Amino acid sequence: MSLVAVGAGKGSPGCSFVSINLATALAETGPQVLLLDLDPHGGDLAAYLNLDPRKGINLLARSTAPFLEALNREGELRRNVLCVGGFPRSADGNPDLIETTLAAARGAGQNVITDLGRVGSGTAPLFSSADLVLVVVRPGLVAVHGARRAIQDLQDAGIASSRIHAVVNGWERQRPADLAESAAALPVRTLGAIPLDRKAARRSETAQTPVDKGAALKAFRALASEVARVLASQPTDQRRASRILR
Ligand SMILES: Nc1ncnc2c1ncn2[C@@H]1O[C@H](COP(=O)(O)OP(=O)(O)O)[C@@H](O)[C@H]1O
Ligand SMILES: [Mg+2]
Repeated sequence: MSLVAVGAGKGSPGCSFVSINLATALAETGPQVLLLDLDPHGGDLAAYLNLDPRKGINLLARSTAPFLEALNREGELRRNVLCVGGFPRSADGNPDLIETTLAAARGAGQNVITDLGRVGSGTAPLFSSADLVLVVVRPGLVAVHGARRAIQDLQDAGIASSRIHAVVNGWERQRPADLAESAAALPVRTLGAIPLDRKAARRSETAQTPVDKGAALKAFRALASEVARVLASQPTDQRRASRILR
């Protein structure tokens, strides 16, 4: 079972949007996926998915009950994704609590996608237990510059470049060069590209559900199969651990 951590540089390029729709697309063709909003700055998944504000990661992370029991209490099923809403306030998400929760989630026997929000030197170590780190970036010079800085922070935290990939989100069909140039300027592989689809994003936000049709849905399905392929080609934890020990 694998852990995918979604993050980004400055701005609001679509970390939560990508986390939700990637989790949904992955769970469409495979087993249930666990989606955790662990954004230390306060999460938005509860609002995006109409999750009960009386439940969520704050209670899951602080629970003394066995993890699976707490998860079943705090999680809510959306299609085939078990979703846990984020910290209500930014002061709630301390790094120790987030790391402990990630470790417990890894042992839960499900593929996990976590929205960790903005990457900075302070938050980069939180991504280190992930099998795959996805950096969401809008196309364009300034956004790519910010993503490059985020990737540098992740590398400085000891995360190998081979485990970091980019997702270009919000590219415009009539400006294909933007996508190619952004991908070329990033120091890691671009695993997928999600088109700018304002209608789908607005519809999804209003209905509080994942995107359900159109170009964005198609792109998320393609991204999910790329993610599954990358994860399947990675060495298992055990093999990776024994290689580190050697
Ligand atoms: N591909 C896209 N097309 C259109 N709108 C998008 C797209 N991706 C994200 N958005 C919109 O951008 C805004 C910010 O997205 P969000 O996921 O909350 O960003 P972040 O988590 O990085 O702060 C939201 O209103 C969302 O609906
Ligand atoms: Mg967010």
